[in-house]
Amino acid sequence: MEIKVVVGDITEVAADAIVVNLFQGVTAPGGATGAVDEALDGAISDLIADGEITGKKGNAVIHTLGKMPAKRVVVAGLGKDGDFTANTVRDVAGDAARYLRGLGVKKAATILHGAGIGGMDPEEAAEALAEGTLLGLYNFRQHKTGDGGNEGKPEELAVMVFNPEDEEAVRRGIDTGRIMAEAASLARDLANEPANEMTPTRLAAHAEEVATRHGLEFRVLERSDCEELGMGAFLGVAQGSVEPPKFIICRYSGDPADPDNNLGIIGKSITFDSGGISLKGAEGMGRMKADMSGGASVIGAMHAIGQLKPRINVTMIAAATENMPSGSATRPGDILKSMSGKTIEVDNTDAEGRLTLGDAITYARQELGVKRIVDIATLTGAMGIALGSVRAGVFSNNQELVEAVIEAGEQSGERMWQMPLDDDYKEQNKSDVADIKNTGGRPAGSITAAHFVGEFAEETPWVHMDIAGVYMVSRDHGVWVKGASGIPVRSLVRLAQNLARRG
Ligand code: BES
Ligand code: MN
Ligand code: ZN
Repeated sequence: MEIKVVVGDITEVAADAIVVNLFQGVTAPGGATGAVDEALDGAISDLIADGEITGKKGNAVIHTLGKMPAKRVVVAGLGKDGDFTANTVRDVAGDAARYLRGLGVKKAATILHGAGIGGMDPEEAAEALAEGTLLGLYNFRQHKTGDGGNEGKPEELAVMVFNPEDEEAVRRGIDTGRIMAEAASLARDLANEPANEMTPTRLAAHAEEVATRHGLEFRVLERSDCEELGMGAFLGVAQGSVEPPKFIICRYSGDPADPDNNLGIIGKSITFDSGGISLKGAEGMGRMKADMSGGASVIGAMHAIGQLKPRINVTMIAAATENMPSGSATRPGDILKSMSGKTIEVDNTDAEGRLTLGDAITYARQELGVKRIVDIATLTGAMGIALGSVRAGVFSNNQELVEAVIEAGEQSGERMWQMPLDDDYKEQNKSDVADIKNTGGRPAGSITAAHFVGEFAEETPWVHMDIAGVYMVSRDHGVWVKGASGIPVRSLVRLAQNLARRG
């Protein structure tokens, strides 16, 4: 969809629909909404008086019946005045965009939610509006043939600005919002693809495409390279599958003069997690096609970072493999030697993510000189039990870094919550026969998994984000569309930008 800026008066625009807004509790709309109300001889205020339009989140439509050049007016509820943030704008824009699509609207115009009465900076408001609109309109129709339930999308959205001085800022905001939304949508696409399509090889090809488009350094380590490096943990997961593993590396140099000004983002990239010999049950196993959501998110983040160009070096790793049962698969009880030299007793082959992350983190630290690490993983079912689908859990050995991650999450509307990492929990990962065991039992399952990963980060500032509760969305609402969530692409991008600004 094209999103453009138009300087002018929304009451004079010809379109299939125009979108105005209303805070909850307002009885006499002002600003642009007020002007539209007037043009409609008070229809909006009448519907407010009747209780049909309330300003609560949600949309209402009024036909203009020739009173204005636009055919319809959609009144988008902004909710309560006090709760208003960029996240409100994104969600309102996402809901409104799907509402317009439902009405069959092709050409729409909208006021800039937040910029007038909301008091937001026009650039920020425009970014949120574009980001929310495009995220909300996302759908995954790649495998539907014919028109396959393909709702025609709105083709054009004109963002109306009254003040010509705001035009440039609004255009910049729209560009940034589009970059953010497209990055998250790329991650959603990669994760929504079934595992027979999104193999490690194909995931690597997609990452390479991103790298080539933005001139980023790119490399894939093949199985033999990983063998030479001693990545016994990663390869132990890969050995049951006929799909060759791909250890994917991509680097953006935003501050070549200061190589230590860097951030490593590492995404768990199991393209299908059957559990291996510790086979999962049939119920819901298909969702494990998205067990590479962490990897998809770091590839998506590089897509945006390559365009927004923050002054920081960002290294991405996606150690991609399937986790399959077979005659060559790792068995429970096997002992693997990780790249770090630590030996691991594989108590359960379904605790595979932490094995791949361990070697990826060691590689990042030892071979790439990464000074700060954020890993993202659909790591434990226990995470969804602890925090549900509202917040991702974050774990860290460095308070400053984890606070920066959480803050970027709040800015992005991708909420997180810090989980504890007391040393006492490490007890549960002790092995009788190796240095460490890959399971810690049922209690605090997300924490023992995080501790396992943390063993490989050692003293390097590190944040682990367990997205197992939030990687999938169950119903359309706001910017969220049923299917892969694209969390935490936008947070990673904002984190890189924020770290760059702080220097
Ligand atoms: N990929 C799963 C975790 C998962 C579960 C993600 C549900 C998303 C939704 C992970 O590899 C796994 O199987 N974890 C096990 C660990 C256990 C064997 C210690 C789990 O959580 O049951
Ligand atoms: Mn598993
Ligand atoms: Zn897994």
